[in-house]
Amino acid sequence: MAITVTIDGRTTSVEEGTTILHAARDLGIEIPTLCHNDAVEPYGVCRVCIVEASDGKGRAKVVTSCNYEVWDGLHVQTGSEQIMEARRTILDLLLSAHPNAKPVQDLAAQYGVTEPSYTGDPEDDCILCGLCVRVCDQVVGVSALGFSNRGPARKMVSPFLDPSPTCIGCGSCVYVCPTRCLHIVDEGNKRVLYKQDRKNVFKEFELLPCLSCGRPFLPREQLEYVRKKFKLPRKLAQTCPTCGGPGV
Ligand code: SF4
Ligand code: SF4
Ligand code: FES
Repeated sequence: MAITVTIDGRTTSVEEGTTILHAARDLGIEIPTLCHNDAVEPYGVCRVCIVEASDGKGRAKVVTSCNYEVWDGLHVQTGSEQIMEARRTILDLLLSAHPNAKPVQDLAAQYGVTEPSYTGDPEDDCILCGLCVRVCDQVVGVSALGFSNRGPARKMVSPFLDPSPTCIGCGSCVYVCPTRCLHIVDEGNKRVLYKQDRKNVFKEFELLPCLSCGRPFLPREQLEYVRKKFKLPRKLAQTCPTCGGPGV
């Protein structure tokens, strides 16, 4: 069912279940995000996407636009003075905790925050956005990553801090990490998956050679997972993308 929503004074019709973030994007209105990716369920943790939501008459409340679904007659302000100030505070805290995380630096600078108010860990760029955890669970389907501890001690880790028995070395978590603190490196016939400066190596893989050109390209764990999932024949599944393989 289509419902009507007004964002920054512009009224549009969207389908029920649409989030404020997507309704705003449909109107060409950009709201900043750090923990959002359309490939996975929203998590609402970074809070940089906050906006004001109201019925247009009563008091507005502050909500996270990435996981707040619009309702008929909803009025949204994405850049009111209150929102800009709150976003600045959120970005200041994020920059304080992760002073070298580039996307945080860039976004904070757009809001005039270049010097953080507090001292954080210059060697920890992980903003705990959970994108790696969600993509591994919801897209890849192996749930190899998670969080440990609570509060300031919270960390994104492999289970029990050991090499994950379920990780297949696909690199999807690396691809979605907004701060680039996850890395996947192929060296000869070895693939290493690690978090920030190799202080936390999640897993090492032996790469199998392409059956056509001989180049090492695919962890055995990934090959077996993909072969089983898509019922691929052996030769097709072990041919690299350059030689016309499936590119898994
Ligand atoms: S590389 Fe491992 S941890 Fe990362 S998404 Fe793939 S299976 Fe999950
Ligand atoms: S490693 Fe990257 S994707 Fe994972 S929680 Fe940290 S910042 Fe987010
Ligand atoms: S993008 Fe909405 S809370 Fe992070």
